[in-house]
Amino acid sequence: MINSYNYKSNKKKGFFITFEGGEGVGKSTQINLLEKFLLKKKVKVTITREPGGTKEGEYIRKYLVSGNKNTWDTYSEALIFNALRREHINKLINPAIQNGEIILCDRYLDSTIVYQGLVGKIDEQKLFNLHDTYCYGLYPDLTLFLDLNPMIGLDRTINRNDNNENRFEKLGLDYHQKILDGFNILYKKYPKRIVKIDASESKEIISDNINYHVSELLDLND
Ligand code: TYD
Repeated sequence: MINSYNYKSNKKKGFFITFEGGEGVGKSTQINLLEKFLLKKKVKVTITREPGGTKEGEYIRKYLVSGNKNTWDTYSEALIFNALRREHINKLINPAIQNGEIILCDRYLDSTIVYQGLVGKIDEQKLFNLHDTYCYGLYPDLTLFLDLNPMIGLDRTINRNDNNENRFEKLGLDYHQKILDGFNILYKKYPKRIVKIDASESKEIISDNINYHVSELLDLND
């Protein structure tokens, strides 16, 4: 397993930070607040997301996140997420790491492990093997898992207009409770990499918590 410190180089350059969690947990709001915080510290920041992040990825994204809930077989879905991830690493994530930037990525590998693996029933180890083989085994330096009761999260997504990006939201409360349970399983397994943030707090408190953990990683705390 490698992280961005030694990805294709032994030199520590940029940092790769991912945001994970269920639907409507406030990832984009927090990514924007963290960007503001980091820019004040004169740090170079790149914001990106999955599925997407590249021109091709953004194009294919709409076929993954809209339409009927049974559009894709789970294995096909996992392969597509991996193919897009490889492009994303090649074209955006790795160049930004090599350029010494802080990458803030909305969803990444853990979403595949939870949605297609723990909940979609694809063997978790197979998905890690796929990642290690085709996505360079690139793991985030830090993952911020925004933990929120799915009832609250889903309620929020109903009120937002996301160009019909609601294929996963349509899967119901039981499904989304399993997604949350899945993220908690990963959090317990990888407590060094994954930090759990209570996303039921106010956005200011959530942001302060996130700033603290990111500052620890980047050595910005006094
Ligand atoms: P997104 O629209 O970013 O959801 P949200 O707005 O809640 O953050 O993500 C699209 C959906 O794609 C989301 O429901 C989770 C799903 N997904 C997977 O199933 N596997 C993956 O590997 C990724 C990256 C996303």
